[in-house]
Amino acid sequence: MDKIVVEGGNRLEGSVRINGAKNAALPIMAACLLLHGPSRIKGIPDIIDIRTQSEILRNLGGDVKKAEDGALEIIFRDGENDDKFTAPYELVRKMRASICVLGPLLSKRRRAKVSYPGGCVIGQRPIDLHIKGLAALGAQIETTEGYINATADKLKGAHISFTGKTVLGTCNVLTAAVLAEGTTTIEYAACEPEVQDLANFLNKAGARITGIGENKMTVEGVQKLYGVDYEIIPDRIEAGTFMIAGAITRGDITLENARQEHLGAVIDKLREIGVEITPSGNTIRVKGCDLYHAVDVMTLPYPGMPTDMQAQFMALLCIAEGKSIISEKIFPDRFIHAAELRRMGADIRVDGPSAIIRGIPFLSGTEVMVSDLRAGAGLVLAGLVAKGTTQIHRIYHLDRGYERIAERLSSLGADIKRIGE
Ligand code: EPZ
Repeated sequence: MDKIVVEGGNRLEGSVRINGAKNAALPIMAACLLLHGPSRIKGIPDIIDIRTQSEILRNLGGDVKKAEDGALEIIFRDGENDDKFTAPYELVRKMRASICVLGPLLSKRRRAKVSYPGGCVIGQRPIDLHIKGLAALGAQIETTEGYINATADKLKGAHISFTGKTVLGTCNVLTAAVLAEGTTTIEYAACEPEVQDLANFLNKAGARITGIGENKMTVEGVQKLYGVDYEIIPDRIEAGTFMIAGAITRGDITLENARQEHLGAVIDKLREIGVEITPSGNTIRVKGCDLYHAVDVMTLPYPGMPTDMQAQFMALLCIAEGKSIISEKIFPDRFIHAAELRRMGADIRVDGPSAIIRGIPFLSGTEVMVSDLRAGAGLVLAGLVAKGTTQIHRIYHLDRGYERIAERLSSLGADIKRIGE
C-alpha cells in the first residue's frame, strides 16, 4: 500500500487546474443507461470511483471507454442487455455512490437489483428517502438477502415531498421520473451543483426538468432521451481543498477552471478566517496571510457549507488564533480525522455533532491514517503546514476522489511524495 510523505513548511505558489466534479460525474454516468445512442462526457477525473462506476456500467452491458481527448464515451445498445439489472456487492461495497444506478435501471429495464449499501466511516447512510421517492413513482421495492430488489411495470409521475435533503436520492428520483408517464414534482429537492449538472445533462438529452437548483423541481416525462456531448462542472470540493492548501501554507496560488458561484459559502468562510480570495472569470486567486482568526463553521445542504469541506476547514482552524466550533449537520459522526489531527498536536474536542478547536501556533508531523476521502484531504493539508515529516497511510481513500494529489501539490512547491510501501 502506498503512503504520502510530506515535509511541512513550504509555501505554495503557482496555478493548478481543477478537474471535473466526481459527484456530478457518477450520477451522470449512470444516467447514460437512459439514453439512445452514444454520449461523450468531458472533464471526468481519473480517479478510482470513476473506474468503479465504469465497471458497474460494463457489468450492466454498457460500453464505457476513454477517448484520446480524455472524454468518456458511454453507450448502452437498445435491447441487447435488458436482462442485466444487478449491481453486485463486490462493486457496491467499493463505492456507496453506486446506488445511483437504481433510478436509471428501474426506468429503463423495469427491474433493479442493487446491493444494499452499508453504513460507512462517515456515519449512517440510510436510503429510505430513495425508496420512498421511487415507490411514489410506482416501483415495488423490497430488501432481501442484502439486496434492494425493485420492479416497476410502469412508472407514473407523482408528487414527492422529501422529509430531508438527499443528493443521490434526488438524483435517483430524477432519473426514474424523466421517462415516466406524466408530471413529477419533487419538493425539498437537493440543490447541489452536482444535482443541477445531472438535470442539465438530462435536459440536453431531451428531458424536461424545470426548477433546477430550486427547492421544488418539476419533471415532465418524455418518451425518449438521446446521447449527448457534455462537459461536467468543475469539482467545487477539489477547488475548496486546493484553496485551503494555498491558505494553510500562507501561499499565493491560482485555481483555473473553478466556479466561484459554486463556492460561495467556502469563499465567505475563508475570508472571515483572513484569507484573501480574488475570483476572476473561471479563476480564483488565493493568498494566505500570517494570522488567521477562529470562526464557527456549520455544514448544511447547498448553498451552505459542504460537509465534504469540513475536514479541510478543521485542518486550517487548527492553526487559527482562538476557539472555533464546527457543527456537522449532515453527517454528525464525521469526525474521525479529529483524532488523527490530535496526534499531530491539534487541540480538538469532539462533543457529539460538534468539534471545538483551539488554535495552536503549529502542528507537528507524525504518522497518521486516512479513514475516508475528505479526512485524507484534511490530513494532507495538515501535513503541508506541520513542522517535520508527516506520513499519511491508507491513501487509497484519497485515490477514490483526488487525481494525482501529491503530484499536483508538488508542482505548486510542496515537499510531498507518494511512496510505495
Ligand atoms: C452525497 O452523498 C455525496 N456523494 C457525499 O460526498 C456528500 O457528503 C453528501 O452527498 C452530502 O452532501 C455523492 O454525491 C456521490 P445525502 P449522499 O443523501 O447523496 C440523510 C464525498 O466525499 N439521508 O445527501 O449519499 C443522510 O443520512 C461524498 O464525495 C437519509 O436520512 O448523501 C445524511 O444525513 C461522501 N435518508 C443526509 O441525508 C436517505 O434516504 C444527506 O445525505 C438519504 C440520506
